[in-house]
Amino acid sequence: MQITLFDSAILYMIRYSEIKKKLKVEISNDKSEDLAYLTHYLQNPKNGISKIFENRAKQYYQDRNDELNIVSEPELQMILPIKWDVPFPSPENPDFTFIDLFAGIGGFRIPLQELGGKCVFSSEFNFHAQRAYELNFGEVPFGDITELDIEIVPKHDILCAGFPCQPFSISGKMKGFEDTRGTLIYHVFKIIERHQPKVVFLENVKHLVYHDGKKTLSTIIKHLEELGYVVSKKVLNASDFGLPQNRERIIIIGHKKIKFDFSKIEKKEKPSLKEFLDDENDFEFLDEPHTILDEQKRQDSGLVFAGYRNKTIRKAGVRPGTEHLSRVHKQPNRIYSTEGVHPALPSQEISGRFWILHNGKVRKLTIQECYRIMGFSDEFKLINNKSELYKQIGNSVAIPMIKAVGIEIKRQLLK
Ligand SMILES: C[S@@+](CC[C@H](N)C(=O)[O-])C[C@H]1O[C@@H](n2cnc3c(N)ncnc32)[C@H](O)[C@@H]1O
Repeated sequence: MQITLFDSAILYMIRYSEIKKKLKVEISNDKSEDLAYLTHYLQNPKNGISKIFENRAKQYYQDRNDELNIVSEPELQMILPIKWDVPFPSPENPDFTFIDLFAGIGGFRIPLQELGGKCVFSSEFNFHAQRAYELNFGEVPFGDITELDIEIVPKHDILCAGFPCQPFSISGKMKGFEDTRGTLIYHVFKIIERHQPKVVFLENVKHLVYHDGKKTLSTIIKHLEELGYVVSKKVLNASDFGLPQNRERIIIIGHKKIKFDFSKIEKKEKPSLKEFLDDENDFEFLDEPHTILDEQKRQDSGLVFAGYRNKTIRKAGVRPGTEHLSRVHKQPNRIYSTEGVHPALPSQEISGRFWILHNGKVRKLTIQECYRIMGFSDEFKLINNKSELYKQIGNSVAIPMIKAVGIEIKRQLLK
């Protein structure tokens, strides 16, 4: 194909949304992963990685278009960069690479890109999360990690994974991490074994520390050590990183030689929820009987419990004298003051019953406010499905916390 200067000038204007329109790119429930190949191809023109995805990407392209051959003429892709008209494009001149496993909506990707990282591979099997990911990063993640051909995972500096935690039933007869076969972390170990990333960056709920009689965590650490990593771990709280949310998560860091020093991570004062709220919106006020406490005490965590919805008091199965507590047993019945921080947003609360007392009134946090107290900026594009939006944000990570860890990973481990 001959390219004139004029063609180049026109093609230079190509934006991701135009390519999508031309190719009728639309994430469907299609399990073929064609779009993962195509978008991973388009995202990696300059680093040699696009080769891995080229054949399938070409096929997808050829089936749909024969004019503008940006895929089947790879040289074109080199001269004519795509304008990533997505809110969170990769950095222009990255200084390290990473992969995003169990990617969710990209809570690792945003802060690591901000630190100069180029994401070269993502995997996430939930269709709605894939849609959110594509809208914000211009990349469709590959699907089920248990079916992944690890040959298509490119080499990378940092492996990031906020994996779901599962109990191990270890036979003890297998060699090394093979005894975790059948669990999700097994697939992470396989990728680590194959690519030996400089850094392994894992995140999980605090409960991982105690999970399965503490066996889960110690097995993970043992296997990372067997894979040649020096491992450090610490439970961190989002509220120490400028967010008004009491969200504790365990972070596990592995490096081939250096023990990561968590004490160097910079922390901030706990902010209060009221600093993160909208003044005006279509708020949903609580219009049912509720009780506001006269005395609202700040707990050490920064939470200020303000009251509760007057649900019926349960008598059955409740210890005598504690019946009134049954009202506040469930989080959706509790009301927190915006003078303090908010409890951790859970992924199960898909109708968003997060009640707050603000300026003397009780209302729900809005979806936008939920994303904000997780560190997602208002530029982050939300999909059009409320219950999935609540699930996605509850599953995600606190962005400034990941960024603060990322800053120290760069300083201590990627020198
Ligand atoms: C705790 S969330 C991680 C969220 C992510 N860190 C973020 O910032 O949004 C775990 C994610 O793993 C995904 N997942 C679970 N099993 C998976 C599998 N077998 N293959 C790929 N993704 C999987 C879930 O859909 C979920 O989005």
